[in-house]
Amino acid sequence: MKILIHPDAARAAGAVADRIADLLAARPGAVLGLATGGTMEPVYAALIDRAGQGRFPAARFTSFNLDEYVGLGPDHPQSYHVYMRRHLFGPLGLPPGQAHLPRGDAPDLEAEAARYEAAIAAAGGIDLQLLGIGANGHIGFNEPSSSLVSRTRVKTLARKTVEDNRRFFGPGEPVPRHALTMGIGTVMDAAEVVLLATGAAKAQAVAAMVEGPLSASCPASILQMHAKATLVCDRAAAAAL
Ligand code: GLP
Repeated sequence: MKILIHPDAARAAGAVADRIADLLAARPGAVLGLATGGTMEPVYAALIDRAGQGRFPAARFTSFNLDEYVGLGPDHPQSYHVYMRRHLFGPLGLPPGQAHLPRGDAPDLEAEAARYEAAIAAAGGIDLQLLGIGANGHIGFNEPSSSLVSRTRVKTLARKTVEDNRRFFGPGEPVPRHALTMGIGTVMDAAEVVLLATGAAKAQAVAAMVEGPLSASCPASILQMHAKATLVCDRAAAAAL
């Protein structure tokens, strides 16, 4: 795994945005795997900036997001559909049909998972998968003990993940306990993976991913087996390496 440590979170996010912009310049029409979470917000802000300067060809990519909460429709304020429209797709003015997310409100979630996998395959697979990391080492919503060869499916969220994500929901508002997520096998099929981790709260998960044993107890550790994986982090997230 290639490891790039930047002095702060803003520069780490800028480096990830640059990698995405470079890929699209070299390979128009590339397929991006996108992620959500607070860590990604400065990456998407940097891409919007670059698009404004003509340095990011927004109209020239297809994207597939990692995951969505089960039970939340695409207009629910806490859904990842709304997150992506707010932080990237809306400001870029992306034409409909270019960006895909799994539907957490699908009546048959198993069929939706199969449809999503088929759509990724039909697009030719993912060229670059962007990942964050949960404090417990999860990627997408693949919690510890997830099969390292799993495909898109429903996962029950770990208590820690539900607590970590509570900050995005209003006081008293129920936080979803299940999500539809790309599997670890789905992520590993991407030609390139870039994982961004920033802040001291991620330091232990980053150390377990990079230096710990390859184990389903830390799903991100599977990236040790990926031929083209890059960890981009700030000094705080690298502190336990
Ligand atoms: C959620 C998402 C992950 C993300 C993680 C960390 O669990 N499903 O894709 O990496 O949160 O989020 P944050 O960047 O807010 O710490």
